[in-house]
Amino acid sequence: MTEFKRVRKAVFPVAGLGTRFLPATKAVPKEMLTVVDQPVIQHVFDEARAAGIEHFVFVTGRNKAVIEDHFDLQVELQHTLVERGKTEALKALADAMPEAGRTSFTRQQEPLGLGHAVWCARDIIGDEPFALLLPDMVMQAETGCMSAMVELYGRTGGNIISTEEVPWEETHKYGVVVKGADVEGGFRLEGMVEKPPRGTAPSNLYINGRYILQPEIFDILSKQTPGAGGEIQLTDAMLTLAGTQPFYGYTFTGRTFDCGSREGFIKANVAYAMWDREMAENLRPELEALLRDIKPI
Ligand code: G1P
Repeated sequence: MTEFKRVRKAVFPVAGLGTRFLPATKAVPKEMLTVVDQPVIQHVFDEARAAGIEHFVFVTGRNKAVIEDHFDLQVELQHTLVERGKTEALKALADAMPEAGRTSFTRQQEPLGLGHAVWCARDIIGDEPFALLLPDMVMQAETGCMSAMVELYGRTGGNIISTEEVPWEETHKYGVVVKGADVEGGFRLEGMVEKPPRGTAPSNLYINGRYILQPEIFDILSKQTPGAGGEIQLTDAMLTLAGTQPFYGYTFTGRTFDCGSREGFIKANVAYAMWDREMAENLRPELEALLRDIKPI
């Protein structure tokens, strides 16, 4: 069996302005809003780490420095917790930390689109396949989405895009793929389109924010002209790459929450709270009562 180059590095494009969440995201990056007791970015980082990723590349922008601080030691806090014997809090901090030297931060400088953000990671990634995780999308599953994709990649190599079904009337908000023949654990990709105008989507299988890509994408991105919304679109560059390399789709079967929207963010909080057995026992009856009793103003 062919041994494919291992996926060791992951890119997290975290330069987005979070305009859908103002004023909450004026001073706090949207990736630092919390789903239960962890920032959104920690949930996505954990998914990558569980998939065996060893190096974490953050493409940041202005006002995002706190993300870098989040993945560093907080020495004073650490000392205080040790002095006070707060072992549980210390463990929570230690569990959330990357190993020293396993993170890189680079800046996108200008919001020119997802394709441009990914291209900004080219020097740090170098000549190897890499994972890409869009941090707006928080995913809940027994086996993480990226873990399942890395497993599929071990069998197929090439490039892999995770997909999911979405109601047809929402297809214009996303990248949409065309499904080809099944391969074990996935399918061949026959096409994709970024944000198809309403009523024109070729399918209702949308790209849900997890990718494994080969480094040749960077060369294509460096020449990519703006597409949908006047932005440099990753989907357009992937379409070009699909002309020369195999592309596969993976169908994610867990739950995805678009934490870039208020509804998705609230649902993620409820879902993660309910995933915790103890919290669920206490909260469920109260939440049910709330939903029954509260009427819109
Ligand atoms: C990006 C991608 C799109 C994908 C979406 C998932 O769009 O370009 O293909 O479906 O993320 O969230 P954005 O949300 O940045 O507009």
